[in-house]
Amino acid sequence: MIEFNRPYLSGKELTYIQEAVGNRWISGNGPFTKRCQSFFEDRYGFNKCLLTSSCTDALEMAAILLDLKPGDEVIFPSFTFVSTVNAFLLRGVKAVFADSYTDHPNIDPQEIRALVTSKTKAIVVVHYGGAACDMEEIAKIAKEHQLLLVEDAAHAIDSFYLGKPLGSFGHVSTFSFHETKNIICGEGGMLVVNDKKLEQRAEIIWEKGTNRTAFYRGEVDKYGWVDVGSSFLPSDVTAAFLMAQLECLDEIQTMRKSIVSRYHEALSSLSEKGAIETIKPGKFATENGHLFAMVLPNEGIRKSLIVYLREKNIFPAFHYQSLHKSTFFESQHDGRNLPNADKFTDGLLRLPVHCAITSGNIDEICQHIIAFFDGK
Ligand SMILES: Cc1ncc(COP(=O)(O)O)c(C=O)c1O
Repeated sequence: MIEFNRPYLSGKELTYIQEAVGNRWISGNGPFTKRCQSFFEDRYGFNKCLLTSSCTDALEMAAILLDLKPGDEVIFPSFTFVSTVNAFLLRGVKAVFADSYTDHPNIDPQEIRALVTSKTKAIVVVHYGGAACDMEEIAKIAKEHQLLLVEDAAHAIDSFYLGKPLGSFGHVSTFSFHETKNIICGEGGMLVVNDKKLEQRAEIIWEKGTNRTAFYRGEVDKYGWVDVGSSFLPSDVTAAFLMAQLECLDEIQTMRKSIVSRYHEALSSLSEKGAIETIKPGKFATENGHLFAMVLPNEGIRKSLIVYLREKNIFPAFHYQSLHKSTFFESQHDGRNLPNADKFTDGLLRLPVHCAITSGNIDEICQHIIAFFDGK
């Protein structure tokens, strides 16, 4: 069986968890949390990182931190995970959905430009599959209209836009370490605070609305309730697991990127013939090996291919369902068609990408896909 995902273990996870237990610091903001946060700050030059229990939590923190109010409009891609938008809707904002490019699920900056109104307060972008959105263009729009910019970089660890790390463009950015991502800790995430003015409040929101982090640093002699917040920080046991993964980041990235590139090579004949479209990063973006996705001509063909591959014990996966058409949101949507988001909803299929996949597995999967299109 070739499963869609298999969590990679570096081998150090249990050692570090044991160390965390030995430290007698298993709640949040302990030694492993600090090590993980420093890892990201040092490697990518992020201003301030705070580990969270999930990317969903980091997005919820972002929405509180940016002080978004009921009635504020925020522009999102429709082709994304629920949390990208739900986190902001919890603050009462109005979601305005922008379409993707025709040939890539990322948000199209021209769409964003057309949707800005006097009520728009923020733009939230998603780097789909770890491939950068057009950050120069999007940052330009944000600057022109004085909008806040958030990067949902859930997929985008160790990925770059013209050499600059993803996660460093937004006022704040969020990452996921869910078991399906490149670097994992079961459930986990991170908020990156690039805007120095937001740094202090971010720590407070992170710690239930208290100034406990400043207290730990010896900056205040007691801590108390100073703002709103919640319990967004993960246990140091989770951070210990994450640290064991981060130490293998380069190794994991090399393995995943080579898998994605082999898929592209093996399926190039099908994409050249126009039987499928493959999803590739834009010319300004890097491939970070998060996923390999192709687009089938319609939902029917995708369904048949899924059944065909499952019969061969291969488990591909489709992805997001356009949020403007979701059960929850459809009645609130302004009625615009978003054909590209719909195209990816119906046609996009992801093939297995994880460190246990062999070259032989990839060749086998691709031969089956080619045979499917040959009608064999
Ligand atoms: C684009 C995007 N944002 C946010 C999330 C939520 O991540 P988490 O499961 O860490 O909360 C996901 C989940 O896969 C996602 O794909």
